[in-house]
Amino acid sequence: MLDLTPDDLLTTTRSVRKRLDFDRPVSRELISECLEVAFQAPNGSNMNSWRWVVVDDPERVAAAAGIYNAGLDDYIASLGDAVGESYMGAQVPRYEMIGESVAHLRENMHRSPALLIPLFAGRTEEASVFFQASLWGSVIQATWSFFLALRARGLGSAWTTGHLFREKEMAELLGIPLDLYTQVGLFPIAYTIGTDFRAAYRKPVSEVVGWNQFEV
Ligand SMILES: Cc1cc2nc3c(=O)[nH]c(=O)nc-3n(C[C@H](O)[C@H](O)[C@H](O)COP(=O)(O)O)c2cc1C
Repeated sequence: MLDLTPDDLLTTTRSVRKRLDFDRPVSRELISECLEVAFQAPNGSNMNSWRWVVVDDPERVAAAAGIYNAGLDDYIASLGDAVGESYMGAQVPRYEMIGESVAHLRENMHRSPALLIPLFAGRTEEASVFFQASLWGSVIQATWSFFLALRARGLGSAWTTGHLFREKEMAELLGIPLDLYTQVGLFPIAYTIGTDFRAAYRKPVSEVVGWNQFEV
């Protein structure tokens, strides 16, 4: 375990892409341990109706990475002219660094020692906001806890959703019943190269918090 305070852990668990060690294997025992920690997160009525697919067969990892890359191509195509300086995220400090980092993960995702795909039971396409919030809210927190558990042990991941443009292809690859389960994202699992990470830019409380009422 790394020597991190709770606030260190919470403020330095990053989306790691350039500093994932794609050459160092990660054991199933360690992944299972992180998942057991993550499963302590809250979930609606404690139904545990989530499912978790871990891919560690190199051929299957490579196939999943191919779907991720194709999904990101779909995403970029969907943006039309809203790319480069027009991209909605382009005003964020260090935006150009994110692009480089995303490209690095794209080029190396197929080398990940393992990939995680969390699933929740149900589909939200026709669901009310209550059900959408309940379903997503019953898996996102455990997924983030998994990131924290990785970080505490010198490993890391990157939150990615790009492959969901091709959710069906991933479902077919992994035998997921698409009509019954929703995929949350695709998360590489690897040791990090070094363990020193810093807090990143976020808008401050003064800009995004309203006290007793909504504030723009
Ligand atoms: C919902 C969501 C979807 C994301 N999708 C992708 C993705 O498909 N590919 C990728 O490389 N990063 C993806 N990211 C990672 C973000 O780009 C990253 O969290 C952001 O740059 C901030 O980095 P930081 O959390 O390390 O500060 C995603 C993050 C979130 C929360």
